[in-house]
Amino acid sequence: MVKGHSETLMPNLQFTPIGVVRSSFTDTAAIPKGPGAKHDAEGTIELRPELEAGLTDIEGFSHLYVIWVFDRADGSELTAYPPSDDRPHGVFSTRSPQRPNPIGLTVVELLARSGTRLHVRGIDMLDGTPVLDIKPYLSSVPPDKMRRGWLEDAERRRHG
Ligand SMILES: C[S@@+](CC[C@H](N)C(=O)[O-])C[C@H]1O[C@@H](n2cnc3c(N)ncnc32)[C@H](O)[C@@H]1O
Repeated sequence: MVKGHSETLMPNLQFTPIGVVRSSFTDTAAIPKGPGAKHDAEGTIELRPELEAGLTDIEGFSHLYVIWVFDRADGSELTAYPPSDDRPHGVFSTRSPQRPNPIGLTVVELLARSGTRLHVRGIDMLDGTPVLDIKPYLSSVPPDKMRRGWLEDAERRRHG
């Protein structure tokens, strides 16, 4: 039988975290944000011990995508007010934590691995944040093809 639209597009998905972020951030206010924010905080991603074989060969990659859950987000809004602009934007044009599916995506630099612990730089997650997946970061977008949307406009307005 052909599945209905809502069954194919909106099944109830369930994920089990593969691990957790260990960072020095216990309060969102401590995480750098807004124009010129530097994301060079170090931390650890601790995977569940039974998943260790899945990390084989990861040391060869300088950077990783970390897919995680905004587990302490406060609801969701379709309009976001990013700290890097004084104008609102649609949530899907931003990295707001208040989104319909509270999923975060961070590119981190892999500094070292010890068993199931990945020591990384570029953490912007609270301590205890659940991690859903890790993938090698490979950018294939040439710089001249990149457009940065409203961010370019906001930067122009800020710097005149
Ligand atoms: C602007 S979001 C960007 C996160 C990620 N780089 C992304 O693009 O999806 C980063 C902010 O999320 C918030 N945050 C971090 N960890 C969180 C968590 N576990 N639950 C809710 N909010 C969190 C902090 O305020 C942090 O400054």
